[in-house]
Amino acid sequence: MTCRGWIKFRSVAALTVVVALGTAAIAAAQPQSGIVRPTYEPPKPSLKLGEQLYAGNCSTCHGIAGAGITRGRLGAGHVLGEGPPLRNVGAQGADFYLRMGFMPLRNIYSQPGPQRTRVLFTNKEIESMVMYVASLGHGPGIPHPDPAKGNLSTGLQLFTDHCAGCHQVLARGGFVTGALVPPLQTLTDRQIAQAVRIGPYLMPRFSPKQISNAQLDSIIKYVQWTNRPDNRGGWGIGNVGPIPEGLVAWWIAAPLLLIACALIGRRFKRS
Ligand code: HEC
Ligand code: HEC
Repeated sequence: MTCRGWIKFRSVAALTVVVALGTAAIAAAQPQSGIVRPTYEPPKPSLKLGEQLYAGNCSTCHGIAGAGITRGRLGAGHVLGEGPPLRNVGAQGADFYLRMGFMPLRNIYSQPGPQRTRVLFTNKEIESMVMYVASLGHGPGIPHPDPAKGNLSTGLQLFTDHCAGCHQVLARGGFVTGALVPPLQTLTDRQIAQAVRIGPYLMPRFSPKQISNAQLDSIIKYVQWTNRPDNRGGWGIGNVGPIPEGLVAWWIAAPLLLIACALIGRRFKRS
């Protein structure tokens, strides 16, 4: 690069940095999401706080006291401001949907099924809303799985039978018709247990008759095992699966082949 070219390059680079920093500053200055909070929040979780948060953030779609809202459809699968009744989802349903960051649902037009987003409520707020939603009916409580009691190979077997068809055997997710199946790493034991009992969106739900609590412990143990980096198969190169690993094999094999060729070539020359 000539001296002038270098100076030009430097000023373009500097400009880029300034623009990037500026954009970041604007992004940071944006107010957080559209969550509505009461002006005063008590220091501890409470039913009252739950009721206020529900009224401000959930009732537009789920109705007064979780009665649900049906407004009519806007074409195939698109729903305008409607949500199912929450009377019997219980603490289990509320806790799962809130801690997964599924709710409040914002973009109801673009995605099939709720997507995981950043959780925008504090722990206290979630506990309060869970209390409130649980008070609306007679839904199930929050499960308390204990994967330490489970068995890894039973878990693998059960996972293969019930889950791997959609989630793949290493729980890395994939596709089924109409839905993206998520990978199951970075979830808590409780979230896995809840998902199995609830069956979010296109996933089927499994009753304790189909999968007992003891079997669920084994499944969770297996799912959490897939999360350990040393169990990812291959060399764990960014954990991206067999193709890149095959490629890396070639990166190593190719130079070795070249060296071998060179050596063989030399031998031929000598003889
Ligand atoms: C923009 C509309 C909208 C808002 C706002 C919203 N929800 Fe939902 N909610 C939905 C829809 C639609 C579904 C059904 C999603 C599905 O089919 O998986 C749903 C599902 C749920 C479920 C699971 C219901 C079931 O039958 O298993 C829970 C629990 C829930 N919402 C809680 C909440 C809470 C708590 C809030 C407030 C923090 C909230 N939602 C805000 C639209 C909304
Ligand atoms: C028919 C396909 C199917 C089967 C079978 C299935 N799942 Fe799912 N699972 C899904 C889909 C699709 C989602 C995403 C739901 C959503 O978008 O709300 C999901 C979500 C989950 C989640 C929540 C993770 C997240 O990010 O949303 C967990 C945990 C989970 N499944 C575990 C299991 C386990 C354990 C089994 C076996 C007992 C199982 N699933 C069986 C399709 C399936």
